[in-house]
Amino acid sequence: MSNKIFITQPFLPPLEEYTELLKMIWTSKQLTNNGPFHQQFEKELANYLGVKYVSLFNNATTGLLVAIKALELKGEIITTPYSFVATAHSIMWSGLTPVFVDTDSYAGNLNPEKVEEAINDKTGGILAVHNYGIPGDVDGLQKVADKYNLPLLYDAAPAIGVKYKGNSIFDYGDLAVASFHGTKVITTFEGGAIVSRSKEMKIKIDQLKNFSILDEEKITGVGINGKMNEVEAAMGLLQFKYFGQLIKKRKAIYQKYDSHIKNIKGLKLFLIPKTIEYNYAFAPVFFAAGKNYRDEMYLKMRENNILCRKYWYPLITEHNVYKNSVTSDLTNAKKNSESVLCLPIYPELGKLDFKRIIKILKS
Ligand SMILES: Cc1ncc(COP(=O)(O)O)c(C=O)c1O
Repeated sequence: MSNKIFITQPFLPPLEEYTELLKMIWTSKQLTNNGPFHQQFEKELANYLGVKYVSLFNNATTGLLVAIKALELKGEIITTPYSFVATAHSIMWSGLTPVFVDTDSYAGNLNPEKVEEAINDKTGGILAVHNYGIPGDVDGLQKVADKYNLPLLYDAAPAIGVKYKGNSIFDYGDLAVASFHGTKVITTFEGGAIVSRSKEMKIKIDQLKNFSILDEEKITGVGINGKMNEVEAAMGLLQFKYFGQLIKKRKAIYQKYDSHIKNIKGLKLFLIPKTIEYNYAFAPVFFAAGKNYRDEMYLKMRENNILCRKYWYPLITEHNVYKNSVTSDLTNAKKNSESVLCLPIYPELGKLDFKRIIKILKS
């Protein structure tokens, strides 16, 4: 049987380079709590993103929980059903109520008009996602948020390196949360970060992620442990060195997919608009013929050891725990959910493996 092709594969830098950094940790014996690698990665990340304030986290989910707490969100939070469950879980874990509204029919991002329709006097904020790392109508969403004076939080988990109209996508919203999980374009094994807009907010977030400790004898509230450790931060620094090359390789694969898929009737790879510099985190393909055909292709791929994923099927609102949530009409999200298949994409996806994928897609 041929080798398994996963939806993604992490990039791991040369082990010798990582060992050098690990030796430094063994010498310093500082394993966590804002150590030197943590400080350096935070600084380099801020520089790279062109933002002033970054706070590293142990994962994006804790980042989302802390972001919700830092923004002091209350009541109902308008969000998307077309995402990884962590988006909605972070609202529920905060004791708030998710209200699900429809997305656009392109990359599956929140539709600002639908958001506006759902706003009432219980609405406390908006939690939007840059789905697949592809920005939606971020200007439209900001307008709605401003009009009703609502905080706008972005789950930007897969969006590291993405630009919109020349600016980092992390420039949008009151706070934006990234993930460095093993499935992401750059990884720290597990990890995350919050980008904030002011020094005061960064200080607040940094306290919240460290049990709300102010000093040895004082706490300022009910914080949590959201800290990234030194082993993870060192990995982040090292990955960063290769970031440009990684995106280039991903882009080449995406373009190769496009050149084949545009000739396959009924299939469409998401076309990246000129306003977006994408990180090619995902390669989502939409099947015009709908769910049965998509599912058939998913199974055919599996039979051939190619593990594509139906991101995001089912919708979050179709899981039992969310079945009784407040939703509006979710036509676009449902259509996307039933027609999408994400193809394998990672820098080291070889030519032969790529051919295997295309052969089945064309069958
Ligand atoms: C949209 C989205 N939000 C949140 C998360 C959670 O990230 P983490 O695994 O770093 O907690 C993910 C992870 O894959 C994600 O895709």
